[in-house]
Amino acid sequence: MSASLAAVKTERGGREPPRHFLELMDIEPAVLRRMLDLGVKAKRGEIAGKPLAGKSVALIFEKPSTRTRVSFELGIRQLGGEVIVLSSKDMQLGRGETPADTARVLSRYVDAIMLRTDDVAKIRELARHATVPVINGLTDVSHPCQLMADVMTFEEHRGPIAGQVVAWTGDGNNVAQSFIQAAARFGFTLRLATPPELAPPAQLVDWARKEGAKIELTADPVAAVAGASCVVTDTWVSMSDEKADGPSSRHNLLAPYQLNEALLARAAPDAIVMHCLPAHRGEEITDAVMDGPQSVVFDEAENRLHAQKGVLLWALGLG
Ligand code: CP
Repeated sequence: MSASLAAVKTERGGREPPRHFLELMDIEPAVLRRMLDLGVKAKRGEIAGKPLAGKSVALIFEKPSTRTRVSFELGIRQLGGEVIVLSSKDMQLGRGETPADTARVLSRYVDAIMLRTDDVAKIRELARHATVPVINGLTDVSHPCQLMADVMTFEEHRGPIAGQVVAWTGDGNNVAQSFIQAAARFGFTLRLATPPELAPPAQLVDWARKEGAKIELTADPVAAVAGASCVVTDTWVSMSDEKADGPSSRHNLLAPYQLNEALLARAAPDAIVMHCLPAHRGEEITDAVMDGPQSVVFDEAENRLHAQKGVLLWALGLG
């Protein structure tokens, strides 16, 4: 290998470990706050020039997406970067090429990889073998990019989230699990109302409590929502549940957890309502709440674009 090629290989291989964005629990609160601040600057138009010029990012989707796909693709272009959107079914990854080999190959082409997958083990393997940052665009157990947008949205409407009470009603799914991580990292109290069968993993709750988070678990949505500053819900059948069990049993279990006007009336009078979308109107949330004056769900969707710019700038060492 020539000296110049060796230099390129060193640069690609990198001496610093890549700045993966896999789980909020992996990242220090001050670093997450830096990313959020960058996202706010991006939203205000205060990011100078095209910081991603000369950089390229691969977005890999194993599952459908509207917000994640559009917000990442557009955000990367707005920051001056190149973006390649890939569906795993059109890649050798979908025919059995390992995440490790996919990581080794893509690391030679692009500067960062975002993956949406139904199997957290895949993104962990990808990250272990990638020499460029890997960003979690949703797995069966977490959705950290969503939480960055959610914290940004809360703070836009209600000021600092630290010390506030956020209530979750519904399934203890991947987004709920990222809320638990976020409570530990951003210092808010999280009350989760779920059917006992669909409670979040005890191990994760234990971790958050050991980190100092105030996590309250209940089966009673009214108790969870009482006086809360923010009420959050999500679909009753996450993408990772579609094959695992029939939706009807979940619907029966979750019907008492619907976010409707009666439940919202138990929250603080100025409470905001969040939902990561897509919503199943009439199931986990009613039209009256989703379209009502307390709903910030479309600000939340917009903030995916801005918050992820903060994540990208940090991951690429640009912020
Ligand atoms: N909230 C969210 O991740 O939306 P998409 O599934 O449309 O990306």
